[in-house]
Amino acid sequence: MYYAGLILVDYYREYSDIIFKNIINSNINMNLSIFYEKADRFKTIRDLTYHISNVGVDLDKYNSSREDIDIAKFSYNDAKYIRREMQLKNEDLYYLYVYITAYSDNIKELEYLLNKLEGLLESSGIQTRRANFREEQVFLSCCPLYKNSFEIKDSSKKNILTSGIISTYPFISSSIFDESGIFFGTNMYNKSLIFIDRYDREKYKNGNMVVFGTSGAGKSFFIKLQILRYRLMGIEQYVIDPEREYEKICKNLNGVIFKIGPSSDTYINVLDIREESIEESKGYLSNKIQRLIGFFNLIFNNLNEEDRAILEESIIECYKRKNITFDDESLYKRKNKKRMFKESIDMPILEDLYNVLLEKEATKILALKLKPFISGSLKYFNNHTNIEINNKLIIADIYELRRRKY
Ligand SMILES: Nc1ncnc2c1ncn2[C@@H]1O[C@H](COP(=O)(O)OP(=O)(O)OP(=O)(O)O)[C@@H](O)[C@H]1O
Ligand SMILES: [Mg+2]
Repeated sequence: MYYAGLILVDYYREYSDIIFKNIINSNINMNLSIFYEKADRFKTIRDLTYHISNVGVDLDKYNSSREDIDIAKFSYNDAKYIRREMQLKNEDLYYLYVYITAYSDNIKELEYLLNKLEGLLESSGIQTRRANFREEQVFLSCCPLYKNSFEIKDSSKKNILTSGIISTYPFISSSIFDESGIFFGTNMYNKSLIFIDRYDREKYKNGNMVVFGTSGAGKSFFIKLQILRYRLMGIEQYVIDPEREYEKICKNLNGVIFKIGPSSDTYINVLDIREESIEESKGYLSNKIQRLIGFFNLIFNNLNEEDRAILEESIIECYKRKNITFDDESLYKRKNKKRMFKESIDMPILEDLYNVLLEKEATKILALKLKPFISGSLKYFNNHTNIEINNKLIIADIYELRRRKY
């Protein structure tokens, strides 16, 4: 492997962006080493003041006849600026040293890389010098040895204030690539391709994602594209669609649309118990009751303890009438001499529960509350499930529920 070094000798102070952005994004094989050295605050201010008064006198005395008058003026103003920032804005002065080594196993390519680096740096207002006769020191300074050799130090030393250090921040992600990911798009800054595997548990805490964009920017388009790709990978997807915009993609992908609303003819029965609904496949009914209480809590607006107890009793009775008890065996039936899990048609619907609730004085009030779900505006809840609930793509169309509160 061949190495060649560059020393940063000057940079454009007004540059406010990250100054190494260009080269970090360039994917050139290189090591970048940055040293910051904090200057003694008290001493710095004292030196600056001394310098300012000295040069100030010079400037007055010699006026414009001095040859280096422009340089003197410049450094005078500079010193004043630094002193002001340090005293008024509480900034600190640092010395900055930057070394870069490029490497390649081909010496011609290395020359090419060096040229390219120099060009890129120059375009971000950075001047560099090749580390001729000082390659070894620059190489060592770019190793993780914390070694800023005195032979190269002076040629790279630059003042920088705290606020300026920000622009030397060397970390920007140049590309995002998860091996098992799917294509998301291209990085605007360096055109690299981005592949993300949202379900990579080791890398991401969860698979959540949010898409922002102005109206018409392509958010929906992007999401539909993701649905298409996840479909190809066989990942389960549920879509809640308030705008009725996923109908077409659902049809094209043979998914299932489940419309919720008065005009709906697709139903899911909340009282259904499905074989795969619990993990350890034990205690189907008690598990279901827990969930149903949650459901009724939502639609009845906070049940009190008493309501909860009598409701639970009624639910148990309701399932009992369909021959479903706490014994899991009661959820299986024989059909064509085969043992199978009971089907949707064997399950009670809300009306059955309603009838149970009507029978007792104590539960009549709950029955009343349930009435809209049986024969009123919400009666689409009162049906046996008639959609293929095991499909891996299910779109819940809630268009008709918009601006309504239950
Ligand atoms: N990557 C793309 N390639 C081609 N056409 C695209 C692309 N992204 C979006 N479009 C088109 O741009 C238009 C607007 O996109 P889209 O409906 O996805 O925007 P939106 O961000 O969801 O808007 P709104 O906020 O109004 O819902 C659509 O006609 C869509 O087909
Ligand atoms: Mg949209």
